[in-house]
Amino acid sequence: MASGSLLASNIGQLVTNDPQRDDLLGEIRDAAVAVSDGHVVWVGPATEIPAEWRELPEFDCGGAAVVPGFVDAHTHLAFAGDRADEFGRRLRGETYEEIMAAGGGIRSTVAATRSSTARELLAKTMPRVERMMRAGTTTVEIKTGYGLDLETELRLLGTIAAIDDSLEIDAIPTFLGAHAVPAEFSGDAAGYVDYLLEEVIPACAPYARFCDVFCDVGAFTVEQARTVLLAGRQHGMEPRLHANQLAASGGAKLAAELGAVSADHLDHVDDADIAALRAAGVVAVVLPGVSFSLRLPQAGGNDLWDAGVTVALATDCNPGTSNIETMPFVIALACLEMGLSPERAIWSATRGGALALGLEDRGQLAPGSLGDLVVLAHPSYVHLAYRPDAPPVRAVIKRGELVAGDTGSALRGRLQA
Ligand code: NIG
Ligand code: FE
Repeated sequence: MASGSLLASNIGQLVTNDPQRDDLLGEIRDAAVAVSDGHVVWVGPATEIPAEWRELPEFDCGGAAVVPGFVDAHTHLAFAGDRADEFGRRLRGETYEEIMAAGGGIRSTVAATRSSTARELLAKTMPRVERMMRAGTTTVEIKTGYGLDLETELRLLGTIAAIDDSLEIDAIPTFLGAHAVPAEFSGDAAGYVDYLLEEVIPACAPYARFCDVFCDVGAFTVEQARTVLLAGRQHGMEPRLHANQLAASGGAKLAAELGAVSADHLDHVDDADIAALRAAGVVAVVLPGVSFSLRLPQAGGNDLWDAGVTVALATDCNPGTSNIETMPFVIALACLEMGLSPERAIWSATRGGALALGLEDRGQLAPGSLGDLVVLAHPSYVHLAYRPDAPPVRAVIKRGELVAGDTGSALRGRLQA
């Protein structure tokens, strides 16, 4: 794994997310960040750079805003096929649930994914991840769930591992075998859950960090989700779940009961659900790109924030409900459509995402954190929502290495060295 050293200098506005500072984002004006061997070693005002870090190769940020690398904690990036036809049908009046009940939706992506080789799946997934990285995502969670049989779920986990190995981004694998009941089970969800427990979970668990279930109407019940998540935990996968997306399905309370790492979507929650998430320390992952793409009301991101729940933002990039790849666009939607303040949106897209993946070492810029930084193409993070269609990112630094963006004016010292 590459790791570098540099001094990011001339930062007009730095977001540290350092909880030791008074404001939510721990902002510092006219700042610098020193990264050595992939980790942050110093953060502070440019006038106070310690002598020992002044000789590091310099990346001149040109007065721009710098934020921690975005952590996209919920995606379904590993898939084949295209569902633009369904998207058109939705715009002509059909609902997501109607299309799903008619055999479309997730199942149509499953058919395309099953008939793709490992090489084809990697070739389709890699460019998606590269586009995300160029937009500032330095850690991405990727779910399986378009295989729904042992062979294809393993192939998808192989795709995620290959992404993690071959790109600088960290790809975190989640097993989502309980995403839909595949056609060959003819609606026998209980029979499919048995198959997952007996054959698929034991074989897939060594390759996945988390286990997820789509717990909702038309998908899996609370009881089925509990069974799958407990089996996943027995095999070493931590639970998280798709909860309360289409209806008040009980998923949020199940997440709290199990102490899941996260409960995601949460479009249909009440005060008791929110209180349960808060009490159990479950991170709420809200997904404004989904409601935007489905043309539905947004989840109550501010209600969760106001209640003291830890909130993360993610793309949920998938071929059906949110074909949105970049976190800057999600931040713009979170502000403009969900009504989050820019500060809440930035925190949720960075530190919130990290906590939703149980990754304490990132999503903030403080000594000891990973040296993952995004140099925005703007003087302030507010511009991500203020100018939502402007190119958002000037450069991306992962573990102290420049991995995307402006190499021309940058790293002067390094290029000389
Ligand atoms: O997060 N809700 C379930 N899973 C995805 C949609 C998957 C699909 O439609 O292909 C989601 O929205
Ligand atoms: Fe999802």
